[in-house]
Amino acid sequence: MFDTLTPPEPDKIIRLMAMFAADTRTDKVDLGVGVYRNADGRTPVMAAVKQAEARILAAQETKSYTGLAGDPGFHAAMCDLILGDVVDPARIAAIATPGGTGAVRQVLELTRRISPDATIWISTPTWPNHPSIIDYLGLKSRAYRYYDAATGGLDRDGMLADLAQAKQGDLILLHGCCHNPTGVDLTIQDWAEITAICQRTGAIPFVDVAYLGFANSLEDDAAGTRMLAAALPEMLIAASCSKNFGLYRERVGIVLALTSGGAAQAAAQGTLAYLNRQNYAFPPDHGARVVEVILRDTILRALWRDELRDMRNGMNTMRAGFATALRDHAGSDRFGFIAGHRGMFSLIGGTPEQVTTLREDHGIYMVGDGRMNIAGLTPDKVDRVARAVVQVLT
Ligand code: LMR
Repeated sequence: MFDTLTPPEPDKIIRLMAMFAADTRTDKVDLGVGVYRNADGRTPVMAAVKQAEARILAAQETKSYTGLAGDPGFHAAMCDLILGDVVDPARIAAIATPGGTGAVRQVLELTRRISPDATIWISTPTWPNHPSIIDYLGLKSRAYRYYDAATGGLDRDGMLADLAQAKQGDLILLHGCCHNPTGVDLTIQDWAEITAICQRTGAIPFVDVAYLGFANSLEDDAAGTRMLAAALPEMLIAASCSKNFGLYRERVGIVLALTSGGAAQAAAQGTLAYLNRQNYAFPPDHGARVVEVILRDTILRALWRDELRDMRNGMNTMRAGFATALRDHAGSDRFGFIAGHRGMFSLIGGTPEQVTTLREDHGIYMVGDGRMNIAGLTPDKVDRVARAVVQVLT
């Protein structure tokens, strides 16, 4: 029976990972998948994670199941990390999920049960798995303008005009910080405008928080999400600990559903637990427990914050250095916008053919839309990559 299957094409990020792995050139450069690398090009296990794992291994006496929703201590720690004290925790329904993608999927599954006709508003562009999962679940989506390729910044007027058309019960999918793939983040004023649009239209914000702490600071990076949570009766959050805890393969994610409390909270909690049961029963526990141990322990939390700060500073320094190298090679500020972006990604510009030339002729791998992972650069490669980008894109 399997020969009747036509396997769907993997998305562009997954395709690129396979192409990079198959390339035998020793000087190839991976600016594709969103994985942090240090100056040596490695993705080490964070020291805070190692210490938390050692504690867990020493103390753990059972591998029996957790609850369907995951560990309540993990929920509480993540709720505090993302939302601080802006909402009463009694209003939150939460489930642990396998990674941020699992959380996105469960939010969309929940939406399908509540309002299958809702439209999910997604930014142009967005992470390819957003529209892919929306389509897979048979939900409707509409694009809102976001990136202005002419300036390398936000198309603010376009975004606000499009979102003003959202209807009651629609979801507005936002990137909490470090917009993927553009690197263009919303200012606090933009978040205020979106809050007002949600208040006016009754649309529900759905914030994908995959890079908390990678832009400016843990607090700054959560400010937009917190503003929405403080002002609105309902919202949805899908968060990932892949990047900021470096727990990629452990698959640590969470859904936080902000409800009006009471019966609404109980209904959301029960439904989310049911959705976990249908999809994979119990969520993975090890990584979630690592995160909980770190966030609850003063010393480990401080160590983690320091490590995260160093990663962030490293990426921002790399950005600035790359922008300077591009300016030196281009003899203009054509790529100056890159310095102002945040997180791992920037859209470098360029046609799909130019991106292919960079890959084939220079061994430089970036996603077909020109998304490059700044954290994939190492100091010894900055000049070579800048020279190739300028040569191919001009
Ligand atoms: C990315 O955008 O490269 C990462 O979030 C990895 C992924 O799953 O796509």
